[in-house]
Amino acid sequence: TTRTIPTAYVEEDQPMHGGDGAKWEQEQLMASLMHYGAKDAKSKADEFDLLMDEKIDFIQALQMAGTNQDDQEQQVSLSEKRKMTIQETRRTLPVYAFREDFIKAVHEHQVLIIEGETGSGKTTQLPQYLYEAGFCKDMKRIGCTQPRRVAAMSVAARVSEEAGCKLGSTVGYSIRFEDCTSEKTLIKYMTDGMLLREFLNEPDLASYSVMMIDEAHERTLHTDVLFGLVKDIARFRPDLKLLISSATLDAEKFSTFFDDAPIFRIPGRRFPVDIYYTQAPEADYLDATIVTIMQIHLTQPMPGDILVFLTGKFFSRVLLSKFINDQKRESQEEIESVMEALIEKTKMLGKKIKELIVLPIYANLPSDLQAKIFEPTPPNARKVILATNIAETSVTIDGIVYVIDPGFSKQNSFDARSGVEHLHVVTISKAAANQRAGRAGRTGPGKCFRLYTAWAYKHELEDQPIPEIQRTNLGNVVLMLKSLGIHDLVHFDFLDPPPQETLVIALEQLYALGALNHRGELTKLGRRMAEFPCDPCMSKMIIASEKYECSEEIVTIASMLSVNAAVFYRPKAMIIHADSARKGFWSQYGDHLTLLNVYNKWKETNYSQQWCMENFVQHRTMRRAYDVREQLVGLLERVEIEPKSSNNHINILKCVVSGYFYNCAKLDSGGHYKTVKHKHTVHIHPNSSLFEETPRWLCYFELVFTSKEFMREISTIESQWLLEAAPHYYKGKELEDSTNKKMPKGRGKSAKELQ
Ligand code: CDP
Ligand code: MG
Repeated sequence: TTRTIPTAYVEEDQPMHGGDGAKWEQEQLMASLMHYGAKDAKSKADEFDLLMDEKIDFIQALQMAGTNQDDQEQQVSLSEKRKMTIQETRRTLPVYAFREDFIKAVHEHQVLIIEGETGSGKTTQLPQYLYEAGFCKDMKRIGCTQPRRVAAMSVAARVSEEAGCKLGSTVGYSIRFEDCTSEKTLIKYMTDGMLLREFLNEPDLASYSVMMIDEAHERTLHTDVLFGLVKDIARFRPDLKLLISSATLDAEKFSTFFDDAPIFRIPGRRFPVDIYYTQAPEADYLDATIVTIMQIHLTQPMPGDILVFLTGKFFSRVLLSKFINDQKRESQEEIESVMEALIEKTKMLGKKIKELIVLPIYANLPSDLQAKIFEPTPPNARKVILATNIAETSVTIDGIVYVIDPGFSKQNSFDARSGVEHLHVVTISKAAANQRAGRAGRTGPGKCFRLYTAWAYKHELEDQPIPEIQRTNLGNVVLMLKSLGIHDLVHFDFLDPPPQETLVIALEQLYALGALNHRGELTKLGRRMAEFPCDPCMSKMIIASEKYECSEEIVTIASMLSVNAAVFYRPKAMIIHADSARKGFWSQYGDHLTLLNVYNKWKETNYSQQWCMENFVQHRTMRRAYDVREQLVGLLERVEIEPKSSNNHINILKCVVSGYFYNCAKLDSGGHYKTVKHKHTVHIHPNSSLFEETPRWLCYFELVFTSKEFMREISTIESQWLLEAAPHYYKGKELEDSTNKKMPKGRGKSAKELQ
């Protein structure tokens, strides 16, 4: 039995207590007071001179910590619910009522636009309906793309459970560096990037009978390119069914693009969500987030889990110093830090409060940790899920009643003029804010706490996010399209075309890398590069390892760079040990060789987990690097590069530079680093092994923007290597330097002397 409730939000300009300092002090006080127990609390509260309503808050919070009648009722209904069979659950989804209509519509139309609220069952049910209706004749597959890897994996796991088969048999998934499918797989979930790669081997998608481009509203770069490609093949494959599904209201736009394809609407089910705004802007949204989580946990009578939208960026930990008594660490992942702060805080409160289970979810989260998110919350506990915007639409978590929305997300952006590409934190759009709020109202009425003012919502947020294709580096996609034989990119059928300038830059960069010739045609090198599911710089670096005879080392470095997760960990109690272990791996030449050291030492111990623990190395990261490496080694074979090993660090670093010559910086006379080509000011990341050094020339893997523009994974290089790697790109003059030739007196000072 399900209730259908009108979709309108209840919008209120109610103030809520956010992260203002006084409130926090009081919280701290209450926390320590709780150690005295409820009986003592009042007198302690007097002693600390709390205001009257704060005392009441406090004592209520203490009472909440005990068992609560409502909770027990809720527990009964929860366990009842859990007993509901999977098949019954499937029948309660909004999409179920439209099963027959949907199948009929797919029979009648080649292209169908699907629009339905998040959680209505589009992703998990529609491919199954088609499978059950016989769309997999002659072993043809039903494919479904997801913009995010976590979504592809978790949805495939869920559907295989519903279909009662092992994951990887009838239902499987394919994401970069991980293929969990077999010949038997008929329902295949994959990232949009993987489908793009499949076009290289199967340009007409002959093995598919249905392709569903899901989460179309996310408008990721790969999804946007797929629109053009699938629209094209639909013309000469009339038997291929195309579904474009979206959670928001862009359906009309998709319909127009796909030659007025009909729109199939699945009416949503949504409970009212009360929206709360802060009265004044928050100075520090992480601070405000933690306080709000604790406030909800301690004072909200309604049971239900909390979903928090964070950005997943790196940031200066000093911001959180009042939560984490460790100011030495310079930066850390935001989600990780908030997790740590919450765990510390709840530990401090001890058994006096209900258990608070803190779980993260982000794109690179290992799959064993992902599963935890979907486990039902145990009775008498509350779950708080710290998510990136992955939980906005692509992953649905049941049991969320409270949403905390600080209003930010991490976005990649590309400045065509300076050639700088980086991730930075931006304010979200109104559409995203409403999606986030909607997560609170899926199973019952909910509350959304926006950590910004109502004024900011109305006046500062854009209506819709900017599609990724208009704000990102297109090198990768251009190489892919060229490999597919699409030469005229300016006239490619884009839903929203990228800026001409970005296209030109991508072509120029591919030319400098040697992937395209001066007529813009794919070279042999370019064709080989396209075999690798990596960005062009990394693919080039890998292929250059043939010339420098160090492919073993380079694929290791490439794998370690690709896992995109922390290699070292620093348990608070053992920071000194952890840091000295980390320094033990440092190479004087920088981080690339440091990463290589870690991997090789781990390999020498026969990939031991024990060794990782002893050396404060994240075993999970290493396992993943191992898997990625296996894949890359397989691809080396495909492009016929013999595995060769070298311990010549110069060759290894020259090889890195062959791929990453855009990412080079030079120390200027003022002791600052500037990128060589565009003179953009950049800084050495505090986690780098070169943080305390001042090499003259260096090459970095990527830029991250936190308080400043930081270079991550850096190595020292020599400027002549740049000429050798990119004669088309650099001119001798740009690379002039006191280290290269004799300089007049006084100009050859080392950077240290200059400081
Ligand atoms: O795609 P859409 O947002 O319309 O919904 P869906 O992802 O198909 O999810 C439908 C339902 O399946 C959700 O409401 C969840 O209850 C359930 N689900 C789950 O339990 N575990 C997953 N990994 C994915 C979905
Ligand atoms: Mg979905």
